[in-house]
Amino acid sequence: MNRLVVVSNRVALVEEGKQQQAGGLAVAIQEALKSRGGIWFGWNGQTVDGPEGPPKITQSGRLTYATLALNERDHAEYYNGFANSTLWPLFHYRLDLASFSGRTYAGYQRVNSLFAGKLAPLLEPDDLIWVHDYHLIPFAEQLRNMGLPQRMGFYLHTPFPAPEILVALPAHEALVRNLCAYDLVGFQTESDLRCFANYIRYEARGEVTELGSNSTGGTGAVRVRAFGRTVTAQAFPISIETELLAGLAAQGANSVQTQRLRDSLVGRALIIGVDRLDYSKGLPQRFEAFQQLLDAYPANRGQVSFMQIAPPSRADVAEYQAIRRELEGMAGHINGRFAEFDWVPIRYLNKSFNRKALAGFYRHARIGLVTPLRDGMNLVAKEYVACQNPEDPGVLVLSRFAGAAKELDAALIVNPYDIGATAENLQRGLTMPLAERRERYEAMMRVLRTNDITHWRQAYVDTLAALEPEQ
Ligand code: UDP
Ligand code: G6P
Repeated sequence: MNRLVVVSNRVALVEEGKQQQAGGLAVAIQEALKSRGGIWFGWNGQTVDGPEGPPKITQSGRLTYATLALNERDHAEYYNGFANSTLWPLFHYRLDLASFSGRTYAGYQRVNSLFAGKLAPLLEPDDLIWVHDYHLIPFAEQLRNMGLPQRMGFYLHTPFPAPEILVALPAHEALVRNLCAYDLVGFQTESDLRCFANYIRYEARGEVTELGSNSTGGTGAVRVRAFGRTVTAQAFPISIETELLAGLAAQGANSVQTQRLRDSLVGRALIIGVDRLDYSKGLPQRFEAFQQLLDAYPANRGQVSFMQIAPPSRADVAEYQAIRRELEGMAGHINGRFAEFDWVPIRYLNKSFNRKALAGFYRHARIGLVTPLRDGMNLVAKEYVACQNPEDPGVLVLSRFAGAAKELDAALIVNPYDIGATAENLQRGLTMPLAERRERYEAMMRVLRTNDITHWRQAYVDTLAALEPEQ
């Protein structure tokens, strides 16, 4: 079996007793590597004054971490700059929030080259290299420039935008050329795959051949010939540790924290939202929909609480500061308008919780409210379902713009821009009969049991391992 080398900007170093790192990528890779072992290479989350040193190697069971700090300029230009002020908004269809600068683009390429140079000495000839997410699109090309022939795969955790959006990026062609240096490019959904294929066909004037479903469980693969390279591209919808979470939630139902939550609700129904504080998550629209629920269905006043967990994210970036201010204003306004001396409608928490606590909270919530304006997959939606009590499950209200909506079509699917319809679906969820709740839950659990995180990892790695390395 080839050794697996995972490369991602964010690395979740396992430190006992520390808060879980919020973010789907870290959660998923951690689970994937735990069982198989290998190297996990990337940024340690720290910034330093001087030049970046060699990676620090830490061993944890079969997993080796190789992590390094970023210097302040690289952090500003690569992480806050091109990755999170250009690619993140662009890939989430927010051209209005995207900024374009040659300086941050140069920083992005520079850090990719730096990372590749630090990883190269750790590599062995038979390694499978699996690079993750938008921060590291040029990584393979940097390794190829050093003459490394190993099989290299890329997985995009965000949406891949339609070509009409992508071409707003001045460096769009260079970026897609970078992607084509991989042997395998994985996307969350078939619609992301289609956007990529359309770019190749109509912008890059390359060739796209449909390969159909393959034996490893990915769907709708294509072979792409463009920029002098041949690449396989395929959708591999990411998932969760379904059984483990279901078990955690059953235990967590009686944890001290869940008990305290239950006591504090004194019998009221709970609607829960759990998201990084990010403008892609549709939180202002969500707060409005909850307000609309209280307006249009006044019987819910005093009877329903909405708890939004929203740990701050990328706090140096101005757009993230703005969304934080906006939500503070909205939560204050709605609470001021409806609160009673013994009931506050919105519990708005800017902190993160570990997985065990979340599992208990999800299980206690009558509704999981997941309404991003655009999301690659959204693991919270899947986690909410896996954590329900099979005898008395809650209802998932899910945005059609989350990748998860393709698989979890037994949720109440909403358009998050349609505030009135979202409020109606909240009401429908709050009053849904047990038989319907169970039917929907079971349909979604069938999907989550078939496509869990192990299935996702195996499908991807087997596909990569089966490809012939291109000379
Ligand atoms: N998460 C967490 N603690 C928190 C908030 C979120 O552990 O306080 C985890 C959550 O359980 C999920 C991940 O962070 O596994 C978020 O992934 P998702 O795909 O929903 O969104 P992303 O943050 O990747 O955009
Ligand atoms: C999303 C991205 C990840 C990122 C995570 C947390 O899941 O796809 O690449 O790690 O958000 O964001 P952060 O900027 O804190 O790493």
